[in-house]
Amino acid sequence: MKREPPAKGISMLFDRVKPLDAILATAERKSLHRSLGAFQLTLFGIGCIIGTGIFVLTAAGAQKAGPGLMLAFIIAGAVCIVAALCYAEIASMIPVAGSAYTYSYATMGEFLAWTVGWALVLEYAIAASAVSVGWSGYFTGTILNDTFGIALPAYLTAGPLALGGAPGGLINLPALIIALLVTWLLMIGTSESAKVNSILVTIKVVALTAFIALTLPRIDSANFNPFLPAGVFGGFGTGVGAVGAAATIFFAYVGFDAVSTAAEETKNPQRNVPIGLIGSLLFCTVFYILVAAGAVGTIGGQPIMGPNGIPFPAGSEELARQCAMTEHAAKLVCSNEALAHVLRQIGFGTVGNMLGYAAILALPSVILILLFGQTRIFFVMARDGLLPEKLSEVHPKWKTPYIVTAITGVIVAVAAAFLPVGQLADIANAGTLYAFMMVAVAVMLLRKRDPGRKRAFKVPALMIIGPLTIAGTLFLFFNLPITAMLVLPIWSAIGFLIYFGYSRRKSHLGQGHVEVHEGEVDDLTPHIPGIDVPKN
Ligand code: ALA
Repeated sequence: MKREPPAKGISMLFDRVKPLDAILATAERKSLHRSLGAFQLTLFGIGCIIGTGIFVLTAAGAQKAGPGLMLAFIIAGAVCIVAALCYAEIASMIPVAGSAYTYSYATMGEFLAWTVGWALVLEYAIAASAVSVGWSGYFTGTILNDTFGIALPAYLTAGPLALGGAPGGLINLPALIIALLVTWLLMIGTSESAKVNSILVTIKVVALTAFIALTLPRIDSANFNPFLPAGVFGGFGTGVGAVGAAATIFFAYVGFDAVSTAAEETKNPQRNVPIGLIGSLLFCTVFYILVAAGAVGTIGGQPIMGPNGIPFPAGSEELARQCAMTEHAAKLVCSNEALAHVLRQIGFGTVGNMLGYAAILALPSVILILLFGQTRIFFVMARDGLLPEKLSEVHPKWKTPYIVTAITGVIVAVAAAFLPVGQLADIANAGTLYAFMMVAVAVMLLRKRDPGRKRAFKVPALMIIGPLTIAGTLFLFFNLPITAMLVLPIWSAIGFLIYFGYSRRKSHLGQGHVEVHEGEVDDLTPHIPGIDVPKN
């Protein structure tokens, strides 16, 4: 291919569209066996979805919305379901590594693809930090405190107050350690078999089922009153109210999009990818609403209000100070291990601890999947020339992109060491919502530009579902706390500097090479954690 004349001005932002045929030709060359059925795909989805969101952020969600948390789960779940339909169409059409980044490259050009890839760092890396902090809460509470009677000093269990940590906090050591440990496992090529994934999913589902079975009969309807103590809309930038909680609790659903990365290994993707995406989401939505009802209905979930009648922001210094007071210490909104705490409070201490063990066992697998997703996106971007090629260097023995994994892991661990879970989740959500929105745009653009291309799955009524996805993601984004909202433009500005300072010049496509390298991603180990791929 000849090198194109350089684009000027605004057209620079939309040029360099990667030819879809080149991407698909590479995908076809990878004679991967299609082995996954709808059930395995759904299990994989549930494995990615259930994590810190439900086990930990239930407390932050209650601080924002009180019992309205149940409504928050419905709103966030609804936005995810329309987004999942868009993912289903594009993933079964462009079944290659790189997910939303690659879809955007093939539809909207390199610059917008770069912004999506850059935002996915927030989705995957920062989400991995959030899950590490969630894990730390259960590890410190259930294992150290309740099992061994060891109380780690406050300065080792949370970030500093100035960053929203706890009074006396300095560094969250368990979160730092688990993030580094998982990074190490990924570097040396550890994956997770489908069997291990199904065992972990079973453990999580049994834990949540036990929670629901023990709490629902003890619900006291008085605890639902007032149902919306902070209203439906808590005010722009405050991140409170039912929709503010929805924007945070959206985190509990993040990860279903990982199902799309397994599209090319799926038998009959037309049927199975949508079932996997939607099935895993619906399953989790029902569980989440019941868990939220059980949590706030038993021990109450009213927020701790500030002097102006607005709940103190979750993860804020003020809330941390309030929670340090004896009168508030036992409240749901103050707990670092929300679900175990509820069970202990209603007299099921042993089951509470067992639920804690379930979280401790299962959450590292969510960190593993998120970190894995992050390294593969960086890997694909480096292979496209947008990031230094050195990053995609594969270790001769471990067969993993060890440099990019190590760098990502250290960043994830540092963020986990110093920031609270709620803030991390909100930042991850900002990036994810942007990526979901761009996927919906890509699906609509492709339908218009390339209507004749084979689509294994078609979103029904796309002209309604597509705009609904865009509106839903924007709606949740603008209901995040202002700090999380601001992270996205600041992060993007850094991304622009890198793109125009480095990536645009080095881009393989810009230099006239259109070979697509995604196939090589599959030569690496580990493969997608939680999925078994037969050897060719
Ligand atoms: N949805 C995943 C979790 O809640 C990221 O941990």
